[in-house]
Amino acid sequence: MTTTTVPTQGREVLLNVEMLRKYFPIERGFFKRVVGHVRAVDDVSFHIYRGETVGLVGETGCGKTTCGMTVLRGLPVTAGKVEFRFRDLGNVDVTRIEGDQLKHYRREAQMIFQDPYSSLNPRMTVREIVAEPLVINRIGSAREQEERVAHMMKIVGLDKRYLRRYPHAFSGGQRQRISIARALVVNPSFLVADEPTSALDVSIQAQILNLMMELQEQFGLTYLFISHNLSVVKYMAHRVGIMYLGRLAEIGEKAAIFEAPRHPYTQALMRAIPIADPDQPSGLQSAPGEIGNPANPPPGCAFHPRCDRRMEICSQVRPELVQVGAEHDVACHLYGEPTTLSDR
Ligand SMILES: Nc1ncnc2c1ncn2[C@@H]1O[C@H](COP(=O)(O)OP(=O)(O)OP(=O)(O)O)[C@@H](O)[C@H]1O
Ligand SMILES: [Mg+2]
Repeated sequence: MTTTTVPTQGREVLLNVEMLRKYFPIERGFFKRVVGHVRAVDDVSFHIYRGETVGLVGETGCGKTTCGMTVLRGLPVTAGKVEFRFRDLGNVDVTRIEGDQLKHYRREAQMIFQDPYSSLNPRMTVREIVAEPLVINRIGSAREQEERVAHMMKIVGLDKRYLRRYPHAFSGGQRQRISIARALVVNPSFLVADEPTSALDVSIQAQILNLMMELQEQFGLTYLFISHNLSVVKYMAHRVGIMYLGRLAEIGEKAAIFEAPRHPYTQALMRAIPIADPDQPSGLQSAPGEIGNPANPPPGCAFHPRCDRRMEICSQVRPELVQVGAEHDVACHLYGEPTTLSDR
């Protein structure tokens, strides 16, 4: 069984990810013999409604960035489907498109990166950086591009005077505003934001998060918001997906995930949330024990070696997502069919 969530009435699914898989080959020796695979994303299914923010959370290396990159076609997929609802074409599986259609998708779906220090070309002026997607896609005349860039600067709260300057002249927060202007200049409908504020000072983080929320409201944007900071996700997301070793352990409305989590892993994460304290490190803390190796994940449920509620079946059978509430799915044998539960 894959995801069992029934789309809620009246809401349009913008992105539907089904059994998405991304394996990276592990190569050895002179002849680069493939000796195994890192299962970075391993049969992940979820959907995102138009205009909402889905947060993707999990410990380092669990596959969040890889998931975002494959959804955007920044990386080819190993298997699975990513259906995107284009404004004019309807639903298209973007894992299979090429040429003009792929170019079209790359305008509709943009990325905001974690590190605004390395993601902006230091040799380009702000004007060139923000205009580049228009130039590459040959959108508008030179004058229209000029006007659009000036408009974007205003939208992200940067003075037009900055257009001639180079990225090094800006603070982290201002750089992230430049990245957002660049991502939005081609009028996309979907953005993957990969830890967009984790490189910023705490006092600046809120400004950028608020800007993203205002822009979402203003332009009807849809976000996949990747973070290991649960407080940030709680602030930004409508629904939250919890990843563990390349798999989705649980996904649901924010209130359900934070107040009534069902998966033992999510429960452990929630117990470990530090009291709001800007001096606390923002790294995700979780259950005792070591996160497994995605090149050789534990059999059955990948979390079972660390789980305080494990049963016999957990080391044998991989749990799939099952629906436990409206818009709430969990991959855990505690909530499987009664017949598949261990009788212990
Ligand atoms: N290009 C690559 N080649 C080989 N392995 C990769 C590649 N990119 C990622 N991986 C591996 O895939 C797994 C998932 O990595 P990914 O960067 O998606 O995790 P993440 O959840 O974004 O982690 P973090 O919180 O540290 O950013 C890791 O084991 C990583 O080492
Ligand atoms: Mg990452």
